[in-house]
Amino acid sequence: MLTRADAEAFDRDDPLKDRLSAFERTRGLYLDGHSLGPPTRRALLRLERTAREEWSERLVGAWNDDGDGGWIDLPARVGAKIARLIGVPPDDVAVSDSVSVNLFKLAAALLPPGKAIAVYEGEFPTDDYVMQGLASLVGAPLIRLASGAPLAGRTIGVLIKSAVDYRTAAAADIARFEAVAREIGAFVIWDLSHATGVLALDLARDGARFAVGCGYKYLNGGPGAPAFLYCMRSEAERLKNPISGWFGHAAPFDFTPDYRPAPSAKRFLAGTPPILSLAALDAALDVFDGVDMRAAEAKAQRLCAVFCTALAASGTDFEIAGGAAWRFDRAALAIRRGAHVGILHKDGYAIIRCLIERGVMGDFRAPNLMRFGFSPLFLRHVDAFDAAQALIDVMRSEAWRDPRFSVKEKVT
Ligand SMILES: Cc1ncc(COP(=O)(O)O)c(C=O)c1O
Repeated sequence: MLTRADAEAFDRDDPLKDRLSAFERTRGLYLDGHSLGPPTRRALLRLERTAREEWSERLVGAWNDDGDGGWIDLPARVGAKIARLIGVPPDDVAVSDSVSVNLFKLAAALLPPGKAIAVYEGEFPTDDYVMQGLASLVGAPLIRLASGAPLAGRTIGVLIKSAVDYRTAAAADIARFEAVAREIGAFVIWDLSHATGVLALDLARDGARFAVGCGYKYLNGGPGAPAFLYCMRSEAERLKNPISGWFGHAAPFDFTPDYRPAPSAKRFLAGTPPILSLAALDAALDVFDGVDMRAAEAKAQRLCAVFCTALAASGTDFEIAGGAAWRFDRAALAIRRGAHVGILHKDGYAIIRCLIERGVMGDFRAPNLMRFGFSPLFLRHVDAFDAAQALIDVMRSEAWRDPRFSVKEKVT
């Protein structure tokens, strides 16, 4: 039986406990870091500084400033910080646009003529939607693969695959996928949105060549923070960005009539970057300085395990998305997962609304998924324990049945 005292003991031994104070205090228990990370104090100060000192005072001169302020080099500087988190060389990551747009740019650049685009069923909707658009634009077939379907023997040009499933948090075996993809001549574009900042990723070791990911989830870059795009240097040389805007040009301020792409992943930039958002993301990433991502991954798994173990001890039947693999034992912890727990319930929306009123903030994804995110940098083990107790209480008391909790908001 896991007690709150056990959770407190984990907190005492937590190698990442010094990071908690880097974050601005949130109200209640914030379990939505998988959707929108909370601000760090540094990111808020940086926003203020970028707006007041750079935008207001330096104005257009800030593009060329040295240090933090040089706006023109911000996408590359932020890219280098993210590169460390995903295990690739610093120049191979460009920061721009959204995941949706970056998926389009990479897939369009990679798709060989006559080959199909493949997406797994149940993939995050935008990944599928964007590939529907690209397939109809270029007249390529779109294959929907059933979960676990083998790739061997198929004529796939580009496969879109989440490294961590947005519902179950199941983590893909990147090296294995890459080995099979190479055998069939396909390119995998990894969606790292739910993996970056919580798994000890090593894309170079695993042979991954292309990836995209969110800046506003576990990287805490703020609402609508720019996304990132990874393209292995040796592959970049031959790829054409379909949105060949001036920021992807080798020398944008030469104003030459021809388009000459930058040599690295930088060629996937398109237009003027959103400097305020980029500055916030730049500062937010500092919280990862000195963090051993293996320790972050281990803590995320332990937080999830504390939550699930406390739920299991309650006697109430919770259906964990992706199976009952989360238990607090060694075998369960050896299974690599992302940092959120999905629980299936047909009234999940009302249950989440009821919890939010009690100060426990998770989210809901239609049709029946409640999600609770356990970001390792700003949560404690007692938070995971207390969140489980709140959920157990809401279920036992059936407080969620109050009709006001079923009134649908635009964003769930
Ligand atoms: C796996 C995954 N991919 C992509 C996105 C959204 O990407 P964007 O809004 O940056 O296009 C999300 C957002 O939650 C996501 O979970």
